[in-house]
Amino acid sequence: MLACASRIDVEHAGGAYPIFIEPGLIHAAAEMLAPYARNDRLIIVSDGQVWAAQGPRLRIGFAGAGIALIPIIVAVGEQAKSWSVLINLIDRLIALGVERTDTIVAFGGGVVGDLTGFAASILKRGCTYIQIPTTLLAQVDSSVGGKTGINVQAGKNLVGAFHHPAAVLIDPTALDTLPERQVKSGYAEIVKYGLIGDAGFFNWCEAHGHAVIAGDLEARIHAIRASVAAKARIVAEDERETSGARQLLNFGHTFGHALEAETRFGSALLHGEAVAIGMKLAFGLSVELGICGKEDPDRVSEHFG
Ligand SMILES: NC(=O)c1ccc[n+]([C@@H]2O[C@H](COP(=O)([O-])OP(=O)(O)OC[C@H]3O[C@@H](n4cnc5c(N)ncnc54)[C@H](O)[C@@H]3O)[C@@H](O)[C@H]2O)c1
Ligand SMILES: [Zn+2]
Repeated sequence: MLACASRIDVEHAGGAYPIFIEPGLIHAAAEMLAPYARNDRLIIVSDGQVWAAQGPRLRIGFAGAGIALIPIIVAVGEQAKSWSVLINLIDRLIALGVERTDTIVAFGGGVVGDLTGFAASILKRGCTYIQIPTTLLAQVDSSVGGKTGINVQAGKNLVGAFHHPAAVLIDPTALDTLPERQVKSGYAEIVKYGLIGDAGFFNWCEAHGHAVIAGDLEARIHAIRASVAAKARIVAEDERETSGARQLLNFGHTFGHALEAETRFGSALLHGEAVAIGMKLAFGLSVELGICGKEDPDRVSEHFG
């Protein structure tokens, strides 16, 4: 792996892995990923929208590196986190002759990351995978921490595994093609890190949140770094959500998941939108229970607008 200006390591029971945060990493990915290309090829799992928007940038570097890029394109959206898509993905990976020593690259949002990570965790009893997250939500949340999985009829994320990636490459410029609604959805998880334990960072969000949404690169880098560092700290403390620390990351999610279930996890309400409302509701409940002052929910509501 290249030495990279911005690096945060995530420690877990089985070791540690680096998260690189740098504009332009997608262009440099071929160089960074070359050591993982067995037999001069790399299998990339992506969805159609990401592949159309960001695939050409990734491909440029590989063309000159003598590494064949083999894309496997899955359906766009939450429906890709399903048994049928998983089975199809596994069958295609086996047909390509993937061995445990191969590395599979997840190139997309949280859906592609969760699906690919889970496929990697069960294929040949566990293959290596690398995440290149392309949504704000995936860059600040889902690519960090090793939770992988799919949805089943009984509910979301009910089948899965803890399986950490070997590395995560975060290129904030990937967000240039992300629809604004998706940016705002991911931003809710950024604010969450301020609300669960870093008042200074929440103050920063109040001052710079609009810049993050509007596409200011420096603001985005700062927000991503602070979020990844916060999540890495919590994951190192409570990798499997057994001691309680990691449950903090679910702040706003109890209400949020109820709202998502009510809207059948469809596009009417994106995950981050549900979490933003959920955090406001959680503060409201806390006021009713007398465990926080009235000014707190007002501030959160004002920030989310
Ligand atoms: N594993 C975890 O710890 C964890 C944490 C939070 C959320 N999640 C999961 O993440 C999933 C949601 O992830 P998401 O919000 O990234 O959704 P997503 O992966 O569906 O991506 C959202 C949309 O943006 C498009 N897109 C992605 N990157 C793009 C880009 N750079 N340019 C243009 N379009 C782009 C995708 O094609 C998709 O249509 C949920 O399934 C959720 O359960 C997992
Ligand atoms: Zn979330």
